[in-house]
Amino acid sequence: MLSPLHPQFRIGILGGGQLGRMLLSPAMRFNLNLAVLDPDPAAPCADFTPDFHCGELTEYDTVIAFGRDCDLITIEIENVSTEALFALRNGDFSGPDNHPRLVRPSPEIIQMIQDKLTQKEFLIREGLPTAEFVAIETQADLPRHFQMFPAVQKLRRSGYDGRGVQVLDSPDDDRAFDAPSILERKIDFEKEIALIVSRNPSGQIVTFPVVEMEFHPEANLVEYLFSPANLSEALIRKVQEVAAHIAETLQLEGLLAIEMFVHGTDILINEMAPRPHNSGHHTIEACLCSQYEQLWRAVLDLPPGDTTLQSPAVMVNLLGAPGQTGPTCYDSPELKNLLSNPGVHLHLYGKKITRPYRKMGHITILHAQLESARQLARSIRRNISINAYSEESE
Ligand SMILES: Nc1ncnc2c1ncn2[C@@H]1O[C@H](COP(=O)(O)OP(=O)(O)OP(=O)(O)O)[C@@H](O)[C@H]1O
Ligand SMILES: [Mg+2]
Repeated sequence: MLSPLHPQFRIGILGGGQLGRMLLSPAMRFNLNLAVLDPDPAAPCADFTPDFHCGELTEYDTVIAFGRDCDLITIEIENVSTEALFALRNGDFSGPDNHPRLVRPSPEIIQMIQDKLTQKEFLIREGLPTAEFVAIETQADLPRHFQMFPAVQKLRRSGYDGRGVQVLDSPDDDRAFDAPSILERKIDFEKEIALIVSRNPSGQIVTFPVVEMEFHPEANLVEYLFSPANLSEALIRKVQEVAAHIAETLQLEGLLAIEMFVHGTDILINEMAPRPHNSGHHTIEACLCSQYEQLWRAVLDLPPGDTTLQSPAVMVNLLGAPGQTGPTCYDSPELKNLLSNPGVHLHLYGKKITRPYRKMGHITILHAQLESARQLARSIRRNISINAYSEESE
């Protein structure tokens, strides 16, 4: 087996979206030999990866064909064929060269997290705090659980960015999903927080500073993110201990982002993602080692990087303007003007088509005073979204 920093050690990433794109720059610094698979020929990674492959991440044969040419496979999205990942990890696929490949994080973790029900069952089994829930198969099951309302219904699979999640006031709410889902008690939380933990195969565990999230009420996705989170020392310690415990229990090899609700002095775990996460974008500029570099260190079994926060930071997502769908216009005077502010770091994801509330980029603002950064983030949020080129201007 080649050593991970050997130039011929080939690493495959399943997914070539913005998270994959942000993995490229530390990969370049570490001189990694990367290949990327994504179904979209115009995915954010496509223009920057010579070894870009187009194919469905959920198709067994496609993932095997891609993964068999790699020494190690990792993910930047969890909706992938875990059947193929098990086969690659076990060397249990047809054709020549069917020896085991490294798959990090493990297919077991990805499979458990893909399904919100098995994720909740893991939390309950481990005695970890999470919102009370029941599993339902169809809409017709709702009336039996009338005592859960108001409730949050979540599709078991393939929900993302708030799609597949909705609040239901009563069992006869006709917006209810008629599909296998979980029904959670609606939590009256004070804050939403997140933290990213990494663990390498040697067992070294490191957490990133806790962040606070603020959600866009309409789009149901993260609008701002603040670090450090305004929490008591005791609560921060508790959150970090919980994260380290989960990483150890799962024998994680990679990154795990954990979203939680804060309720008084208690925390409830909302959900987990075994990959880089939106709540860690700011670590590129704000921490000594970013979540993206940490992913490489973790999956390659290198020593973990120092996650110390260098400066308070606010991250704001740049979303597609409501009501606009079409070729993306990143060339806006507002964005250019923003760059005159020291501490502003612009990230454009290179998505060719914009849609309402699509994540098109983000801005990280570093400022010694978190409140100043927050004010600038609010004004960005109010005034800047990503437009489509109009027909005439094309
Ligand atoms: N039990 C709950 N009580 C109150 N609000 C909730 C509950 N569960 C989820 N929410 C709200 O809905 C949001 C989206 O839920 P969740 O994170 O489970 O879904 P998701 O679609 O996987 O999210 P994403 O991909 O944006 O992280 C949460 O961040 C939170 O604001
Ligand atoms: Mg979430």
